[in-house]
Amino acid sequence: MKRIGMGIVGAGFVGPHHVDAVRRLGFVDVVAIAGSSEQSAKQKADALGVPKAYGSYQALLDDPAVHVVHNATPNYLHFTVNAAAIAKKKHVVSDKPLAMTAAEARQLVDQARQAGIVNAVTFNYRGNPLVQQARHAIKRGDIGPPRFLIGQYLQDWLIKDTDYSWRLEPDKGGASSALGDIGSHWCDLAQHVSGLRITHVLGDITTTIPKRKKPTGSREAFQAASGSEKFELVDIKVEDLASVLLRFDNGAKGSFSVGQVCAGHKNDLVLEVCGSISSMRWRQEFQNELWIGHRDKANELLSKDPSLIDGEVRHYAHLPGGHQEGWADAFANLMRDIYGFIAEGKKPDAAHPPAFATFEDGYRANAIVEAILESAKQGSGWVAVKS
Ligand SMILES: NC(=O)c1ccc[n+]([C@@H]2O[C@H](COP(=O)([O-])OP(=O)(O)OC[C@H]3O[C@@H](n4cnc5c(N)ncnc54)[C@H](O)[C@@H]3O)[C@@H](O)[C@H]2O)c1
Repeated sequence: MKRIGMGIVGAGFVGPHHVDAVRRLGFVDVVAIAGSSEQSAKQKADALGVPKAYGSYQALLDDPAVHVVHNATPNYLHFTVNAAAIAKKKHVVSDKPLAMTAAEARQLVDQARQAGIVNAVTFNYRGNPLVQQARHAIKRGDIGPPRFLIGQYLQDWLIKDTDYSWRLEPDKGGASSALGDIGSHWCDLAQHVSGLRITHVLGDITTTIPKRKKPTGSREAFQAASGSEKFELVDIKVEDLASVLLRFDNGAKGSFSVGQVCAGHKNDLVLEVCGSISSMRWRQEFQNELWIGHRDKANELLSKDPSLIDGEVRHYAHLPGGHQEGWADAFANLMRDIYGFIAEGKKPDAAHPPAFATFEDGYRANAIVEAILESAKQGSGWVAVKS
């Protein structure tokens, strides 16, 4: 098999997981890392055993050994790096959000289509075996047409006023915090699993901590403050909590809540799809189980067991029943899907619909978040999602 060269821009929290995931595939070489400086890139490259380190993303894009560019920089660099990578005709795997605004995301969709490159956004929960099982079963009609999609994505890492991240600064993270960072995952998952589109939203958003203590030194992503740390008090303009009502294109209704200030919820993504016959619920923190609810017989709890899930999605499970698979395994499944397209020279389009999220899906996520913010701005009325 022809080997494929991967280069990654930004190797903070999530970047090393991109590296780990593609290495599992067996036919991908991680050839280079680009960081915010030559020194930080070298440090990361040494730690991860990557041969080349660049102090700028432009230098990485100029490297002919890099065929696929992974963009794991903070949000404000997504558009610039993605656009530059497409201009060099590299395949692009962008971390979410695709861009800071839907308008920028639309430009990237058009640019990627014209360049004919494989384009993907890491809405990684799609890679979970039981997510694919639910999607397959719903498509087959097991639960009947979906009528109600409900859920949440709750975390607690921003619950204290000493918790801080670039995600809270609109010029680096975008106009939204909780909705853009994690609500976008929920919306993508709901649409992917159900096969439906969110058409209208009604949002109520809150900034529960309007002033935070921003550390004056540097701190790793998701790291709590230490007692001796110096800080400045800053105003926070983005939401850390939101409730959203939804309408879908088949007439189904729904709602979800997101929060980064909910104690005890670490990465608590829950999606339930209630159909006309049965319901299905998947919870990320218990990702090896799928709840199936019935009216006329006992409810079921399906385990992630390759011998129990459908043959069409069995390849997403790599260990026998009872052997738990997790976040990093699902991330690797996503990369397997994306690199399968790259290796086969296939373009993600209507003729070859991929299981992974494309730039078009990334655009939709940006457009949904913008519509929710617009709804909240208007005093929480219904707003149509731009198509
Ligand atoms: N798919 C997921 O579940 C998931 C999980 C976490 C983060 N993310 C996304 O990944 C992105 C990165 O998040 P993170 O938590 O890893 O952030 P992070 O702050 O830990 O890492 C970002 C890295 O980018 C580097 N960087 C900054 N400017 C750069 C530049 N000009 N060139 C090269 N590198 C540069 C920083 O030094 C840092 O190492 C975000 O957009 C976030 O939304 C996605």
